[in-house]
Parts: sequence; structure tokens; C-alpha cells
Amino acid sequence: MLAYLITLSALFFQTAWSQSSGSCQAVSQHISVPPYDNYFYSNCHSDTQVVITSPLPDSNLSIIGPRLIVAWPAGNSGICTFFQPQNGRNGSLGIALARPLSPVYKNVTGSQYPYVGVEGVLSFNSSAVLTIPILGSVRTIRDFTEGPSLLQPIIQDAINITTTNGTGATLSRHWLDNITVSSFSLVPQQNSGTNITIHQQNKTISFGAGDYTFSASFNYPQLTQLEPAQVLNTASQNLTQQNATSSETTSLSFLSYTEKLLAGAWRFLTYFGRDSTISALLLEPVLSQGNGSATEAVIGAVLERINRTDGSVCHEETIGDYATYLNLQDNITSTAPGFTYPMIDTDYYLPVLMAQYFSSRPGRISALLSRQAGSIDVQNRNLTYANLTLINAEKIMNQTAAFAQKQTAANLIHLKSDQIVGQWRDSTYGIGGGRIPFDVNTALVPAALRAIGQLARTSGVFPNNTSVNVTAWRTLADSRATIWEENTLRFFETNVTSATAKSRLQHFVETATFYDGPTNASSLPASGNITTYAISLQGYDNLSSVDVMHSDTSFRVFFVNASASTPEAQAQETRFINSTANSLIRSFPAGLMTPQSMVVANPAISGSDVLIANFTNAAYHGTVIWSFQLAMMAKGLERQLGRCNSTGSVPTWCTMPSVYNNVKKAYNVLWDSIEANSAQLQGEVWSWTYSNSTGFVTTQLGDLPPPPGVGAGTESDVRQLWSLTFLAVKRDMNL
Ligand SMILES: *[C@@H]1O[C@H](CO)[C@@H](O)[C@H](O)[C@H]1NC(C)=O
Ligand SMILES: *[C@@H]1O[C@H](CO)[C@@H](O)[C@H](O)[C@H]1NC(C)=O
Ligand SMILES: *[C@@H]1O[C@H](CO)[C@@H](O)[C@H](O)[C@H]1NC(C)=O
Ligand SMILES: *[C@@H]1O[C@H](CO)[C@@H](O)[C@H](O)[C@H]1NC(C)=O
Ligand SMILES: *[C@@H]1O[C@H](CO)[C@@H](O)[C@H](O)[C@H]1NC(C)=O
Ligand SMILES: *[C@@H]1O[C@H](CO)[C@@H](O)[C@H](O)[C@H]1NC(C)=O
Ligand SMILES: *[C@@H]1O[C@H](CO)[C@@H](O)[C@H](O)[C@H]1NC(C)=O
Ligand SMILES: *[C@@H]1O[C@H](CO)[C@@H](O)[C@H](O)[C@H]1NC(C)=O
Ligand SMILES: *[C@@H]1O[C@H](CO)[C@@H](O)[C@H](O)[C@H]1NC(C)=O
Ligand SMILES: *[C@@H]1O[C@H](CO)[C@@H](O)[C@H](O)[C@H]1NC(C)=O
Ligand SMILES: *[C@@H]1O[C@H](CO)[C@@H](O)[C@H](O)[C@H]1NC(C)=O
Ligand SMILES: *[C@@H]1O[C@H](CO)[C@@H](O)[C@H](O)[C@H]1NC(C)=O
Repeated sequence: MLAYLITLSALFFQTAWSQSSGSCQAVSQHISVPPYDNYFYSNCHSDTQVVITSPLPDSNLSIIGPRLIVAWPAGNSGICTFFQPQNGRNGSLGIALARPLSPVYKNVTGSQYPYVGVEGVLSFNSSAVLTIPILGSVRTIRDFTEGPSLLQPIIQDAINITTTNGTGATLSRHWLDNITVSSFSLVPQQNSGTNITIHQQNKTISFGAGDYTFSASFNYPQLTQLEPAQVLNTASQNLTQQNATSSETTSLSFLSYTEKLLAGAWRFLTYFGRDSTISALLLEPVLSQGNGSATEAVIGAVLERINRTDGSVCHEETIGDYATYLNLQDNITSTAPGFTYPMIDTDYYLPVLMAQYFSSRPGRISALLSRQAGSIDVQNRNLTYANLTLINAEKIMNQTAAFAQKQTAANLIHLKSDQIVGQWRDSTYGIGGGRIPFDVNTALVPAALRAIGQLARTSGVFPNNTSVNVTAWRTLADSRATIWEENTLRFFETNVTSATAKSRLQHFVETATFYDGPTNASSLPASGNITTYAISLQGYDNLSSVDVMHSDTSFRVFFVNASASTPEAQAQETRFINSTANSLIRSFPAGLMTPQSMVVANPAISGSDVLIANFTNAAYHGTVIWSFQLAMMAKGLERQLGRCNSTGSVPTWCTMPSVYNNVKKAYNVLWDSIEANSAQLQGEVWSWTYSNSTGFVTTQLGDLPPPPGVGAGTESDVRQLWSLTFLAVKRDMNL
């Protein structure tokens, strides 16, 4: 169906980008994913994303309505306006950008910073009302679009509507900082016969069909973008020139700034710890290194935001107007940013990234680690990056000690007690209410311990004159890593007979609300056991393990590659890699593979109706496809297959043709599906719908109503940092 095709057109000017000449070349990009039309515009003054939503004939009008979003990385700021047709039914109003964006850049007396943003022409196909404006922070907009339509009077009541240019209207709002103003204007195009009526009492404006100049701007300090050439290392500069990759490098540049990389556009235009570290790990072959590089922007951003008290890595920062708003909720008058620490996984990515970076650039150790923190999080003033690196490593060493002593479920890493999420599946039903996630325990902890061992053996990373015995870590961290590597999988391993799996599949296709196609049970063996791994332990509804088949096995294949030390550990590794390969080779619902590529969760053989109800094709972390999981699985399988060619000891499974060939087949099945879905790969997440007449059809997640018990659906970011990692993750044609 045409509606689901992704079209892409882009205009590139980056080759002409020049700072020395003092010019201010614009880079713009147009990405259309109906019903969303995305426009990116950057020049030396500011960076803007515009998203226009215009319902399609087949759109679900209870979810999709006419909307304009303007989003800015600076302050994670934005403006959102919702429209309705003045007369006529819902869905009859369409909006389009009728002229390319151009920049707004103007000085206003009394404003310390210039007003920056974009201008363009919007075309409305029928008379319309601007019903709800939100001006300020992207987080405030998300509270409305993703929360239960929350609007805060303290924010909404500050919006003024005034007449502009005779016939137009301007909505403006002073931020809670009393300094910054967000401003949005709509002015009839000359001679178009259109006009605007302002209704002060309910803060709406109505206007006729036709073309209007719109302008969106704010006066807030801007970030400094890294140009494509600055984001990529020397060997990868040609990626900016090739047609196939130049749109990806443009997007990567839009998300890359001297101070931090941003997680995604438009919903996550700010620092996220997990997203930036995973992206840096996967992008390593192409990412710039050294002073002022993208790699150091990521590492520096993470270190800057560490909680000095306990060594936790920050998940998300709260900046701009939303920071002032949250402070006010605590009765504090302050614009200071906030830093949140709800996650347990993010701590572990940092040492892995630092060990990887310092092994390729030992010359940067002292320059980077001697840097003074505190420019972002003032709490960290008086600490160096070296101090913060050590504090994080200490946290990990402390947290992993108990399990090294005694391998019990109680000693595994649990979610923080006051949180219902803690790793990348951070939605209500993401890991089915489990307290002990698979990825953290079987992959991230051992990888972080290996990394800490390596950092401890690298001179200049950890100081040796502290109360902590970092010298001991040179061997302790690795011996502890072995214990975690070899004794965690068994807590998650689940075996059911093939017959049981087949009857569960039958039950699934008969009862699931979102799939009633073939079971694909013939891909299961005629007899014997099916081995899978629970996504988490101690789930909702007293489930001791949440037996959802999942793609978090990708973390284990990507992050863990040490040799097993015992025959039992070897056998366990063989079962694991074979199970992972089978999950990719088998088609949904018997496995994870759909025509839209690998789903990240599949409840079909869980035998649990609750899990089947929660892990749907509309759930953010349900039977949906995430690009970064494809990249991580592809790279992880490549690493595992690479071990088979190692000159040292190779894993037992490499010498077992049935398993080795299975893994190789899985690698190729996965890559075939990645190539078949190349149009989706740069987006955050996508889904599918199924009917017996159409089969599987690629579907925007935002087009699907949320599963039961979830407040609102989730729309995918059109560009996500970790979905740009296919710039570095490439198919190995020799495999
Ligand atoms: C705004 O003011 C700055 C600083 O005085 C100046 O450099 C810049 O050229 C001005 N820009 C415009 C558009 O007037
Ligand atoms: C309003 O008029 C001014 C002066 O003519 C012009 O610079 C500006 O672009 C107009 N604004 C809009 C939104 O049309
Ligand atoms: C909106 O109006 C109020 C009351 O006149 C004024 O104090 C405030 O500064 C205005 N805000 C903007 C952004 O102009
Ligand atoms: C903004 O001004 C109001 C009214 O004067 C005041 O109560 C508030 O504390 C100010 N906010 C900040 C962040 O300075
Ligand atoms: C403005 O719109 C109203 C209806 O909303 C219409 O009656 C009026 O004629 C229009 N004025 C102009 C100048 O187009
Ligand atoms: C806002 O007020 C105007 C004028 O009173 C009215 O015609 C319109 O229906 C109102 N709009 C909404 C969304 O309440
Ligand atoms: C890009 O440059 C790298 C390093 O010089 C080279 O290996 C690669 O083949 C080039 N790719 C293309 C398509 O030119
Ligand atoms: C690259 O894209 C440009 C503009 O779309 C086109 O003119 C050119 O032929 C393309 N080059 C290749 C090698 O595909
Ligand atoms: C930092 O960690 C300490 C100790 O766990 C905690 O009390 C504090 O609330 C954390 N800081 C923030 C900003 O969450
Ligand atoms: C803030 O002040 C209000 C009014 O005094 C009080 O009701 C509320 O509990 C306070 N909130 C916090 C987080 O201290
Ligand atoms: C940092 O040191 C200065 C001077 O030594 C002191 O005034 C300040 O309180 C310290 N800040 C923190 C966050 O420890
Ligand atoms: C930071 O590191 C320096 C150098 O190792 C050390 O002297 C200082 O005590 C450390 N500060 C803290 C708070 O750990």
C-alpha cells in the first residue's frame, strides 16, 4: 500500500559547508513517512526539525490528527499545534508544506540571544481551527501526546495571542525562566483571500483554507553541531559523498553536537546515556576520535552526568523549560537541569566504551581523564573525568561482588526497587514486570567486568593512591567476569517439549488479537526440547520467569566473547548460540522473523495469555522491530562466527557442523531481512499488521492503538541515533 511506503528525498549542501569563509550554508533534508512529513533544517545559527502530520484516507482518526511540530535540540525545545477542520468531518483537513523552509535569525532589543528557527508556507486544504498550542519543551509536548493528554495551566495560561502583520496571528509564551520566549506566527499569504480570526477567550484561532506563512522561533543559547566530516573518522569521510549513505551521515550530524549526541528526532532530542553509548560502540569503525570528536562527545557527556554519590550513569537529562517546571514542582525557583538515574543497565556500557576507546587511542587517556567536570552538572564541579570513571567502576565492582561469592537469583542485578523499568525495554510491559532482566545479567555485567579489568591494566586510567585497591582489579575483574559469564544463563534458560510448543502456537494463533495466520510449527523439530531464554525473572502475575522469546540474546552475542572454562559452560554456550540462531531462522510466531525483519519479543510459545495480551504488535517493546537490535544482532553474530577462525581456542560449537551452519544461516537470514527492510532502517521502531488477505504489511507504530492498559500509543522517531549504526555494521559477504 502506498500509504506505508517510505519515500525519501534529500537536498545536500554539506560539501559546500565552510566555516573559514564565514558563510552559513544550510543543510536540509526531507523525509516523508506518511502520515508524517519530516523536514530537517540546520545552518550555523540553529538546528530545527519540523514534523507535519496530515491524516491519510485510511488513518485511524482517533490517533492521527492534523498537527505541526517544530523541535529544537537546544533546550530540547519545541512548539506543537493541533488543528481541526472548521466544518466537515475529522480527517477532512490536510496540511502540507508548500515552500521549503528558510531560516529565522533576528536580533531583538533586550534579548541576549537572537531569535532563531524556521519559516515556511503551510497549505491547508480546508478552513481550520488551531485548537491546542503547546510552546516550550519537547517534554511538555510528549506529556500531552504520550501521557493522558496532560496540559499544565502554568504553561498554557502564559500563551498570548496577538495580531501580527495586520492579518496574521502570533502565539507567544514566556518560559518559566522569565527570559526565553517561544513564538509561532501564522500570516495569510498575500492575495490568497484568506484571513485569521483570534478567539481570545479560548485561545484558538480560526482561518480559511489556503496558504499561510508560518514562523517558529525562540531566543535560547544554541548547541554547536558537528558537521558530517567532524562526526566521521578520516577513513570514513567518503560516506558523506556516496548517495547510499549521505542521507544517513546528514542525519547523524543533525544528532551530533560538540557537547553530546542526541538520541532521536523528534521525541528524544537530547542526552540519553544508553542510546549514546550503544551507538558509539556500534559506530566505532566510522566515528571520529580524538579531541573534539564524536566519540569524546559521547564519553564526556556520560561522565559529566554521573551521580557522584553512587556512580550511576545518567539515563536522561531534563533541560530547558521543563527543567524549570520540574524544579517548580519541588518549590524551587531554578533553571538548573535535572539528571535522572532510573536505569540499571547504563552503568555497564561506560567502561566497555572507554576500554574500547582507550585501546585504540591510548594517547587520549590523560587528556580526556584530566578534564574538569561540572560544566553541565554543577554537582560534579571539583571532580575530574578520572574521578568519575573510578566512581562508576567502584559501583560496578561493589554490585557484582555478591554473585561472585554465591550464585543465587537473589544476588543477580535487580531493577531499582522504586522502578518498574531499568533497561532498554523501558515501557510498562517491556519486560513483563520482571525484576531481573536478561540483558543486564547475562551480557552487560560480564562485559563491564572484562572492561574494568582491561582499564585497570592500562596505565593512567585509575589512580593507584586511593582507598580502593584498583591494582587487585587487574585480575579480580576478569575472574569475576568468568563467574558471571558462565553462571547466569541458567537462571533464564527454559526448555519445553516440541509438542508443548506446537500446542501453544496453535493456542496463540487462535486467541491473539493481532495475528491469526499460520503457526509455522513445521519449523520446530519433530521431537525433543525447544530451548529459549526468559526475558526477565519475577514478572507480573507471579510469573517466576517471563518466558517471552526475545532479541536480547543480541546483547550476549555482541558483548560476551570469552572462552568457556568448563565442558558444562561450553555446552551451555552451544545451547545458547543454537537457540539464538533458531529464533532467527524460524518464522514468526514459531520464531522472531517476520517479513518486516526480527521482532524484539514474541509471546507465542510463552503459554501465558497475559503475556500474549501485553506483547502485541502495538506495544512499544512488543512484537515490533527495532533497528538497533538488528544491528547489534548482526554484529554480534559476526563476532561469534569470527571466533571460529581464531588461532587460539575456538568455541566447541564452531566444530559442530550442525550448530556452526545454523549460526551462519541465521546470520544470512538476518541480513537478507535487513536488506529487504532498508527503507525502515534509520527509524526508531516499526511494526506490521496481518490479515489473511494481505499477509504482513509494514505499519507505523503510531498508527496502531495502544495495547490494553497502556495510556497512549507511541509514534516512532523518524531518525534515531542508534538506528544510524548501519553506517558501520555491514554484511560480511564471506560468511
Ligand atoms: C545580531 O547581533 C550580533 C551581535 O551584535 C551580530 O553579530 C549579528 O550580525 C546580528 N544579526 C542580525 C541578523 O542582525
Ligand atoms: C511580517 O512582516 C514582516 C515585515 O514585513 C516580515 O519581515 C515578516 O516575515 C512577516 N512575518 C510573517 C510571519 O509573515
Ligand atoms: C503575555 O502577556 C502578559 C500580560 O500582558 C505579559 O506579561 C507577558 O510578557 C506576555 N508574554 C509575551 C511572550 O509577550
Ligand atoms: C519569574 O517571575 C515570577 C514572577 O515575578 C517569579 O515568581 C519567578 O520566581 C520567576 N522565575 C524565575 C525562574 O526566576
Ligand atoms: C474573513 O473570514 C470571514 C469568515 O471567517 C469572512 O466572512 C470574511 O469575508 C473574511 N475576510 C476577508 C477580508 O477575506
Ligand atoms: C472558541 O471560541 C469561539 C468563539 O466563541 C467558538 O466559535 C469556538 O467554537 C471555540 N472553540 C473551541 C475549540 O472551543
Ligand atoms: C571509502 O574509503 C575507505 C578508506 O579509504 C575505502 O576503504 C573504501 O573502499 C571507500 N569506499 C568507497 C565506496 O569509495
Ligand atoms: C546520486 O544522486 C544524484 C542526485 O540524486 C544523481 O544525480 C546521481 O546520478 C546519483 N549517483 C549515483 C552514483 O547513483
Ligand atoms: C544520586 O545518588 C544518591 C545515592 O543513591 C541518591 O540519594 C541521589 O538522589 C542521586 N541523585 C539524583 C539526582 O538522583
Ligand atoms: C510545594 O509547596 C506547596 C504549597 O506550599 C505544598 O503543598 C507542596 O507539598 C510543596 N511541594 C514539595 C515537593 O515540597
Ligand atoms: C568546589 O570547590 C570550591 C572551592 O574549593 C567550593 O567552593 C565548592 O563548594 C566546591 N563544589 C563542590 C560541588 O564540591
Ligand atoms: C580526584 O582524583 C584526584 C587525583 O587522583 C584525587 O586526589 C582526589 O581525591 C579525587 N577526588 C575525589 C572526590 O575522589
